[in-house]
Amino acid sequence: MSDNNSPGQELLGIGQVSERTGVAKSALHYYEDIGLIHSTRSTGNQRRYPRHMLRRISLISVGSKLGIPLADIGHALEPVPMDTIPSEADWKRASTEWKRVLEHRRRAIEELEDRLMGCIGCGCLSMEACSLLNPEDALASQGAGARRLESGDSVS
Ligand code: FES
Repeated sequence: MSDNNSPGQELLGIGQVSERTGVAKSALHYYEDIGLIHSTRSTGNQRRYPRHMLRRISLISVGSKLGIPLADIGHALEPVPMDTIPSEADWKRASTEWKRVLEHRRRAIEELEDRLMGCIGCGCLSMEACSLLNPEDALASQGAGARRLESGDSVS
């Protein structure tokens, strides 16, 4: 089922979008609820998505599979309008943002990998000092072990 408007503005039903993108209808509802995608309503109050939304939804799906938080995906897609057909310049700006988000993700994974390697070698599993198990711990930067007992300092 599809509605035909002007070229490039063809409207697709949620079933078609789900089939084309592999994204479950429930996920499409959720993406719309949090403002990642947009639809209009038919006279029968059914969701209709412009064809250009397929590209946006596919990118959201890929980003999600890569473990990128939806908020970051939304930020990366901010340059891409939802109410008109995006231009190549819009997609180029989004590409720059995606690259930044992926680079941030890569650095976070590398940092986690470094910490994990250190913890495998350490093995203390201390909730007080382990920067992996207890990343917000103010004493973690001072090293593994019972820092309070060694220095007598208190955490401020
Ligand atoms: S196991 Fe993580 S610091 Fe010891």
